[in-house]
Amino acid sequence: MLERLTELENKALAELEQAAGQADLKAWKVKYLGRSAELATITAGLRDLSKQERPAVGRRANEVKNAIEKAYEAHFESLRAETLDRSLREERLDVTLPGRSVSHGRVHPANQTLRQIYAIWAEMGFQVYLSREVESDEYNFALLNMPEHHPARDMWDTFHTTEPGVLLRTHTSPGQIHVMRERAPEPIRVILPGMCYRYEQITARSEIQFNQVEGLAVGRHITFADLKGTLNAFARRMFGQEVRTRFRAAHFPFTEPSAEMDIECFICSGEGCQVCKRTGWLEILGCGMVHPIVLHNGGYDPHVFSGFAFGMGTERIAMLKYGIEDIRYFWGNDLRFLEQF
Ligand code: FA5
Repeated sequence: MLERLTELENKALAELEQAAGQADLKAWKVKYLGRSAELATITAGLRDLSKQERPAVGRRANEVKNAIEKAYEAHFESLRAETLDRSLREERLDVTLPGRSVSHGRVHPANQTLRQIYAIWAEMGFQVYLSREVESDEYNFALLNMPEHHPARDMWDTFHTTEPGVLLRTHTSPGQIHVMRERAPEPIRVILPGMCYRYEQITARSEIQFNQVEGLAVGRHITFADLKGTLNAFARRMFGQEVRTRFRAAHFPFTEPSAEMDIECFICSGEGCQVCKRTGWLEILGCGMVHPIVLHNGGYDPHVFSGFAFGMGTERIAMLKYGIEDIRYFWGNDLRFLEQF
C-alpha cells in the first residue's frame, strides 16, 4: 500500500507538470483530489486495514495528500501569474493613440429640407397638418373637382391598391379636404407635408415617391395678391433675399386661377445653364386660388370664403438649394451622398 501511495504521488506530480491551462488543472484536481479520487478511496479504506498497517499508511496518505495539494496550489498560482503576465504583455493599451472616430448618423437631406420649410411657414403662422398616405379615390380626385373619368386624372399616374377605390395619394392636396371638413367654418392656415406616390418613369428629376408640402389658407378676404406675396416671402427666406420669382399661368382642376411659380436660377443668375435647361428659371411649385367647388366640398360657402393653396416638391427644392443633379440619390442609401449633409 505504501508503494502504491508513492506511485500515486509521483504520477500526480508528473501529470500536474503537464497541466497547461485552467481546464487541465480542473480535470487534474478532480482526478487526484476529488471525492472519488484513488487517494480518497485509500483514506476511506483505512479502517479496514490491520492495526499494524493503519498508522503508517494513514501517515503516508496524509503526506501524499499534503504534498500534491501544495503542488497544486503552487501550479495554480504560477499559471495565474503567467496568464496575467501574458495579457498585460499582449493586450497592452497605448493610451496616447488617437481614438477611433465614431461615425454619426444624421438627418436625411429630404427631412432637413422639410424642417427648413416647416420653420419658414411656422414663422408665417402656418400649422403642420398631417394627413394619410393611403387615400380614397374620392379624396384624391373626386372632391378635388375631378369626378370619375375626368381627363385631368391622367395628370397623375396612380398606384391603386387591390381594394377598389383605395390608392396611394398622388399629391398632398386631398389633405385640403380633410382639414377643411375638420375646421369649417373657422379660418385655416396650414401646411400639409408628406410622401406622395406616382407610377412614373424614374428619371433624374422624377421619382415614384417624393415629399410634397401643400399649403392652404382659407378666410373671408383672401386674394391672389396674398398668395403671391406669401409665396414670394417664402422664396426669399428659403433661397435668399435677392431671389427673383415669376408666376406663370397653369391649370389645376382644384384651383382657379392656377399658376406655377419659378425662381430665377441662382446657379447662373438667369444667364442660362444646364440646371435651368438654359431658360434662366426653375419651377418650384404649383398654386392657385381654391376652386369654389373644392371650398364647397370642404364645407365652406364659396360666396363668403376664399382661399389659396400651393404644392411644392421637397426634393426638388433640396436639389436646387444644394445643386444635386439627380433625384435618385435621395433614396439610393449611398452613404457618400448622405454624409455630405
Ligand atoms: C400637384 O401635385 C398639385 N397638387 C400641386 C398644387 C397644390 C397645385 C395646390 C395647386 C394647388 P404637380 O404634379 O405639379 O402638382 O406637383 C407639384 C410639385 O411636386 C412639383 O412642382 C414637383 O416639385 C413635385 N413633383 C411632382 N412629381 C414629382 C416626382 N415624380 N418626383 C419628384 N417631385 C415631384
